[in-house]
Amino acid sequence: MNVISNIADGSERYARCIQTSKRVRWDIDKDVIRGRSFDTAYKFLPDGLSLVDAFTTLSADERRYVSQIQGRTYANIFGLVERFINAKVLELSEDYWFGDQVVLEALVRFSDEELKHQALFRLVDAMVGDVLPAGYRFDVDHNAVAHAVLGKNTWAVLALTLDIELFTQLHYRESIDADSELSELFKDVFLFHWREESQHAILDELEWVRHDARLKAEERDSAVGEFIGLVAAVDGILQAQAKADGRYFTTTCGRAVDEVEARAIEAAFLKAYRWQYIHSGAQHPHFGKVLSSLITEEQGQRIQQALTKLQ
Ligand SMILES: [Fe+2]
Ligand SMILES: [Fe+2]
Repeated sequence: MNVISNIADGSERYARCIQTSKRVRWDIDKDVIRGRSFDTAYKFLPDGLSLVDAFTTLSADERRYVSQIQGRTYANIFGLVERFINAKVLELSEDYWFGDQVVLEALVRFSDEELKHQALFRLVDAMVGDVLPAGYRFDVDHNAVAHAVLGKNTWAVLALTLDIELFTQLHYRESIDADSELSELFKDVFLFHWREESQHAILDELEWVRHDARLKAEERDSAVGEFIGLVAAVDGILQAQAKADGRYFTTTCGRAVDEVEARAIEAAFLKAYRWQYIHSGAQHPHFGKVLSSLITEEQGQRIQQALTKLQ
């Protein structure tokens, strides 16, 4: 007998996530890294994510270097957000400790995968550090950020989490475009990460909708404001990192960069990071569909206005 048919309707989608999670499960060394190292002859992020065309003053070699810096920041940003995502998932799991054990298993697997992803991204950061010049900085305290995020309403945190976990799909799609100059190892990071993230995005949605049903209209309205605040906080981190990465590029690129060009490079980094970590998720059709099913038109406009300011 099919195991799923024994499970109450509410748990069915969680049970499917468990099955898929077991089927796609991968190992960092055996499946992703496979004894390889990063090669600076290749781009680390695809053009569709690094937005190389925005770096108008740079040569082809310098643009490749920019994609490598962004690749290291990619690993660090994911290591950062997965800290709070995992903490939130563990917190949500408490609702099921003495209840539906299928849902509990789905969330425990989600948490276990995020711990593994953080380990993968720490390794990628170190491996990229081995092949790029010294001086790179990512000065964000993961635990302090996670603490601040967890102080916000669960509705707002799950909205941000679904946004993030859906954009890993788009990032993977960008990486599979035919581009012989793209690092095979980095392509595998996108591929394997997305394989597990696709279950996370389903679970985020289920938990977000469940949590939404508990809210009164005024609570949801204030949660919309907190979501906008969280996106602004993400943008603050991206602004600081765009500055840091711009500075790192100009001091290590091997030629003189004047003040005007340095500012243009920093602005291009920020444009790319806002695309990677804010707009690619906010524009994801499924995110828009779920969000608009939960909020009023006026709340949707508030979110849209806030996003428009971050162009
Ligand atoms: Fe992840
Ligand atoms: Fe995830």
